[in-house]
Amino acid sequence: MKITVFLGAPGSGKGTQAKRLALSHGFTHLSTGDMLRAAITEKTALGLKAKGFMDQGALVPDNLMIDLIGETLAKLPNTSTILLDGFPRTVPQAKALDANPRTTVHQAIYFSIPEKALIQRLTGRRTCKKCGEPYHLLYVTPKVAGKCDKCGSDLIQRPDDTEEVARHRLEVFRGQNEGLLAYYRQEKKLNELNADQDVLKIESLLTKFLEA
Ligand code: AP5
Ligand code: MG
Repeated sequence: MKITVFLGAPGSGKGTQAKRLALSHGFTHLSTGDMLRAAITEKTALGLKAKGFMDQGALVPDNLMIDLIGETLAKLPNTSTILLDGFPRTVPQAKALDANPRTTVHQAIYFSIPEKALIQRLTGRRTCKKCGEPYHLLYVTPKVAGKCDKCGSDLIQRPDDTEEVARHRLEVFRGQNEGLLAYYRQEKKLNELNADQDVLKIESLLTKFLEA
């Protein structure tokens, strides 16, 4: 199966764009963050292990994440075209993905954005409790305040979107990002995108990358 990896800081817009492109183009969107949040809600063994790391804004250990993505990909048909959002986050995760005989990483798209924009994006984000659709108090507002446009459920603030935890997530991101970019640059699979612009403009640039 063909994979496009979305790389980028917390708040850079990976989830927003992957959800839009899944709807418009029929891609399969896999977000490891969404999967972990579902596991926490369902109180599965993985959810119980992951919660402490996520609440602090730390990464969940590689072995748990590699198993989670391996099991998820194994259930999908070979013909799927996948947008992978939030995985890989480390070079060992990238290597594990490349070692999977059923998957080919076609390209990695880096959502580049100045850090000063991110804290406001994260602290102002509101997320649908049920379907995970992201909104923003100022930039991406729902039609009815506090309710998801798609499924009508309540919008909540993610527990890791407080300023303190968001700052820590950005620090963790900085620690891993260069290595990950170097990995995909060396593989000649890296494309960079200016993620500090209008949602629709970014979507149209991404469409060009994905159709190339
Ligand atoms: P995850 O859920 O992946 O969070 P993240 O990487 O921190 O990314 P975000 O979801 O915060 O940002 P996003 O880029 O999706 O932005 P969004 O589109 O929502 O991971 C959460 C945690 O899970 C991690 O901290 C870790 O603990 C664990 N985890 C997950 N995967 C892991 C892995 N592989 N290994 C280890 N641990 C893992 O947009 C953000 C906001 O901006 C929204 O409010 C949105 O409405 C708004 N917005 C979007 N685009 C624009 C725009 N163009 N202009 C203005 N506003 C915009
Ligand atoms: Mg996201």
